[in-house]
Amino acid sequence: MDFYEVIRGRRSCRVFNADPVPREVLERVIESATWAPSGKNRQNWRIFVVTGEKKDALVGVADRSFPLLEPSLKEMYDEKIVSFTRGFFRTLGGAPAVLVFYSLPTEEGPFVDTQSVSAAVENALLAAAYEGLGTCWMTNPVHLKEDVDRILGVEGMELIAFVPIGYPGKEPPTPPRKEGRVTWVGFD
Ligand SMILES: Cc1cc2nc3c(=O)[nH]c(=O)nc-3n(C[C@H](O)[C@H](O)[C@H](O)COP(=O)(O)O)c2cc1C
Repeated sequence: MDFYEVIRGRRSCRVFNADPVPREVLERVIESATWAPSGKNRQNWRIFVVTGEKKDALVGVADRSFPLLEPSLKEMYDEKIVSFTRGFFRTLGGAPAVLVFYSLPTEEGPFVDTQSVSAAVENALLAAAYEGLGTCWMTNPVHLKEDVDRILGVEGMELIAFVPIGYPGKEPPTPPRKEGRVTWVGFD
């Protein structure tokens, strides 16, 4: 797969098969995350790779976070999509592992810190796509940060994202890209 195929082929996957992801594959994905740029090279990301009972507890958090998303989802989408998303949050699509991205606060402040960790998240997503894995960047569980902190034994960090990861059980649809998002300045 060439680089641009990876970029275009990465999709948010919400149905996984139960096959575990070999540890060395997860290690390549995580190492790719850590090669992201970061404000003043602070590398403020802290990444948890979670499976087993703790992963099940994180699935519980995602499930409990769904009602916080439901009203806005209902405004934007039809009942079929709302009900599919409810099912996804209930099980995280059966993903065998979840990556949890935190930011250790630095003197750069939350604006820079969050962007640095987001760059690491995207690197992980692209590396996972290259490895044939599915992922879904999720921020909704951040609403229940205290529960996630308790499960992972975290103190003093900002929760940035959940990323369920595993081999896709179903090919995700490709949402079309919207027009009019780019302005070229100074070109003929
Ligand atoms: C910052 C951010 C937060 C997101 N949060 C969620 C989420 O909580 N739940 C979810 O199902 N998808 C979430 N997504 C995935 C988007 O819905 C998805 O990227 C978008 O629909 C485009 O689809 P694609 O990723 O397949 O291109 C999030 C994506 C981003 C970048």
